[in-house]
Amino acid sequence: MLEGFVPVAAASELPPGAMKRVVVGGERTLVVNVGGDFYALRDVCGHAGAPLSTGDLTGYVIECPLHYACFDVRTGKLLSGPVSGDVATYQVRVEGDTVYVKR
Ligand code: FES
Repeated sequence: MLEGFVPVAAASELPPGAMKRVVVGGERTLVVNVGGDFYALRDVCGHAGAPLSTGDLTGYVIECPLHYACFDVRTGKLLSGPVSGDVATYQVRVEGDTVYVKR
């Protein structure tokens, strides 16, 4: 059922628009809540590795704080900014008040 999923946060601590940096399987991971839906992506910008968790989240878009690359948190796809790789995304489940990320 939740095989491979790791608990990372209480859903109640992440209201819509909030994000949290966690470490899952040794990887910096960013968990965000957009409109009540949770997403997880690697907390490493595809350009030069800055932590996206210190950037700005606007809707589904996370903007890197360093050179302002923008990524869609649902897909990890680069939307704008410097030439950059996409960012890995991870499956998320919410059971009760617990948010899980698959690794
Ligand atoms: S490190 Fe993120 S845009 Fe350069």
